[in-house]
Amino acid sequence: MTLQRTSNLSADTAGARGTRRRPLLWGVLIGWVSGGAAVGIGSMVVMQSGLFDIRASTPHLFVVGWLTHHTMIRSVQVRAASDSGRRFMPEQIARGFRLYDSHCFACHGGPGLSRERWVDGLTPTAPYLLDMARQWSPSQLHLIVADGIKMTGMPAWKFTLADGEIWDVVRFVRAMHGMSPARYLQMRATAASGGESALGVANYAHSRAPHPQ
Ligand code: HEC
Repeated sequence: MTLQRTSNLSADTAGARGTRRRPLLWGVLIGWVSGGAAVGIGSMVVMQSGLFDIRASTPHLFVVGWLTHHTMIRSVQVRAASDSGRRFMPEQIARGFRLYDSHCFACHGGPGLSRERWVDGLTPTAPYLLDMARQWSPSQLHLIVADGIKMTGMPAWKFTLADGEIWDVVRFVRAMHGMSPARYLQMRATAASGGESALGVANYAHSRAPHPQ
């Protein structure tokens, strides 16, 4: 008898707890749905009203700039492959330099050397790439260069460069860390004077050799 009363009591308590929890669940659900609807309607209003300033000549609001930049960083970190077992060869630096100087320099400049003036008109603008070796792993850089960055002026290079060439550029970009302006200009002079074969560039553009892993 005593036992039965105890178990009835605990069943009652559990039932009471269940009915108390239900309004809470409904509250959370209604909160989510109405919150989602408010965000949706808000976005439509901003879009339809032309409130968002799309002109590249005005900078992003701080919060928009921060959000888009961090979205880019997380997206690259999550998507990039692992670097385990990756090997680079010394001659990749010279090959990568040549590609960088002709395809990237206009937007990104070099050590102590300014990019083209028209790049100031991009929003977001193209940053100098002198500390990329500290900020990104090789695979993360490969992803950025190969696939580009949406809603910025950064193109996806995999449509015009072979995968081996993209790895060469990645190698060079990493080598720019701490490089002096004199060294950059010296590499440019060497490439221009046909010294490329000495640097291991001969016939590379046509051979499209696969990237050594
Ligand atoms: C037309 C201009 C343009 C050209 C050409 C260009 N880029 Fe970019 N690049 C950009 C812009 C703009 C960004 C900034 C994107 C951002 O802020 O999210 C960028 C971002 C990058 C980043 C990421 C920098 C960071 O914020 O950490 C790397 C790395 C990069 N570019 C490498 C290259 C390489 C290598 C090439 C040549 C193969 C190249 N880019 C050519 C415009 C350009």
